[in-house]
Amino acid sequence: MAAHVVTAQNRFAGDASKGRDVFLRYCSGCHGEDGRGEAKTFRPNVGNLAIKQLMDELSDEYLFVVIQKGGAAVGKNAAMPAWNAQLGDDEIRDVVAFVRTLSRH
Ligand code: HEC
Repeated sequence: MAAHVVTAQNRFAGDASKGRDVFLRYCSGCHGEDGRGEAKTFRPNVGNLAIKQLMDELSDEYLFVVIQKGGAAVGKNAAMPAWNAQLGDDEIRDVVAFVRTLSRH
């Protein structure tokens, strides 16, 4: 009987440098390269992902869900799209790790 192996890997050990590539490709159009939403290229009301006090209140689980399932899934603006079609779980973890770096200046 094959053992069901549960790895001891941290669920949220994302790779921020990989996440940066994902962010620049899929997210910066709305959020700006620095996450401050000042690019205003598409939507003005994206919120600022670089404010530490705000980001500290958001858990990694929450960030994962809002990225995977979109704003509407967490009662936020549906203008924040769901990314489950474009991004696998690992890529979402990477981008969460990168988003965390935006407020750590
Ligand atoms: C089409 C524009 C658009 C794109 C592209 C986009 N977002 Fe958003 N995002 C939004 C908007 C609008 C909000 C604000 C939702 C709200 O506060 O109601 C938001 C909010 C967020 C939030 C904060 C949620 C909160 O509760 O404060 C995070 C984190 C986020 N986006 C991450 C990402 C990531 C990561 C990507 C790329 C994979 C991405 N977004 C791509 C429009 C976008």
